[in-house]
Amino acid sequence: MSQELPEWVDVGAASDLATRPLQQVLLGGRVRIALSCVDGVFSAISGVCNHVGGPLGEGRLEGEYVVCPWHYWKFHRTTGSGEPGYETDCVPAHEVKVLDDRVLVASKPRSARHKGKHAPHPLAREVVRTEGPVRVLGISTTAMTEGNPRYSTSDDLLDAALAGAHDLGCDTQLIRMRDLSFRACEGYYSKSARACTWPCSITQMDPQDQMDRVYEAVVHWADVIIVSTPIRWGNASSLYYKMVERMNCIQNQETIADRHLMKHKVAGFIITGGQDNIQAVAGQMMGFFGEIGCQFPQFPYIAHSRGWSAEDMENNQRFVQRSEVLHDGARSLVARCIEMSKLMLGGQITSVPPSRGGRKAHDIGMTAAVKEPPGDPRTVRIHEGP
Ligand code: FES
Repeated sequence: MSQELPEWVDVGAASDLATRPLQQVLLGGRVRIALSCVDGVFSAISGVCNHVGGPLGEGRLEGEYVVCPWHYWKFHRTTGSGEPGYETDCVPAHEVKVLDDRVLVASKPRSARHKGKHAPHPLAREVVRTEGPVRVLGISTTAMTEGNPRYSTSDDLLDAALAGAHDLGCDTQLIRMRDLSFRACEGYYSKSARACTWPCSITQMDPQDQMDRVYEAVVHWADVIIVSTPIRWGNASSLYYKMVERMNCIQNQETIADRHLMKHKVAGFIITGGQDNIQAVAGQMMGFFGEIGCQFPQFPYIAHSRGWSAEDMENNQRFVQRSEVLHDGARSLVARCIEMSKLMLGGQITSVPPSRGGRKAHDIGMTAAVKEPPGDPRTVRIHEGP
């Protein structure tokens, strides 16, 4: 049972605390406070950000504002009010006094938390599959010189797969990652698992970032996802990795919130390269897409490589262009994926995902709510837009 805090809580020596412009202190070992000091004047506000509970005391000071270290929301260090334009989005402020070189913080806030109304990001809506034929999404991850297209073996086979899906009565969509302007993952998860949000923190903060098109198609639209990649230095392409790192937020919802964004999704892969390492590339792709909740048909990838000694790339391209076997293989791959999808959509393959995707056997100790100080019992939920 938690004990009632005294009216004033001693948080340390002023001579020591004044050496840091911003820091987190705890009242009674549990209530987080962002304590700032500018020109010897101390101020205290709640250490829990209004957004998704980031530790304000671990952020930085920018003028009179405390900047949250997770997604950079700002709160006035004395009043707790939000930055200009968002003043009513405020965190509680606490009185502070200094007596005999001791800093005392009032345990009860002098102002209340108020969270502004923010419309949820469109991607945050519930995932609901609407009626209709199986929907097949192709994602091309090969790079290309803008304005000077060239023949691509992986694109050619992806086109064959989508044409095959169309012939089977499916809806199809093609996303070429090279056409999108999107930022690399900036490591919000590395700050805290809860700082990695759905929708992605970058997507919520940057309307210019076009990764939202991939999220929309992968999470809300597709039943089947066919990803194509060339082999680059024994791995999938750099665009592939840039894309999947941004999909960490999909996987992380399993971990921190037991939330299954990917339901009834089938993935297949097309891998081509002048040189080899196909099985390692396929292993990575299957590992990642399995981790975000996709399932696979039997033989979930097709691939082509002429091996280590084949540096005659022109012949490699001609080989793929003329290969009926490979084009038939692409159509066969998508047909397998579509069959699998129909089984899943028809309820013949389990529709009950295991807890946390079955990824973590132990209790990972994540909670979806951060408790506020006594007297201000509101909670900060973690699945909200900015
Ligand atoms: S800005 Fe503070 S938690 Fe997101």
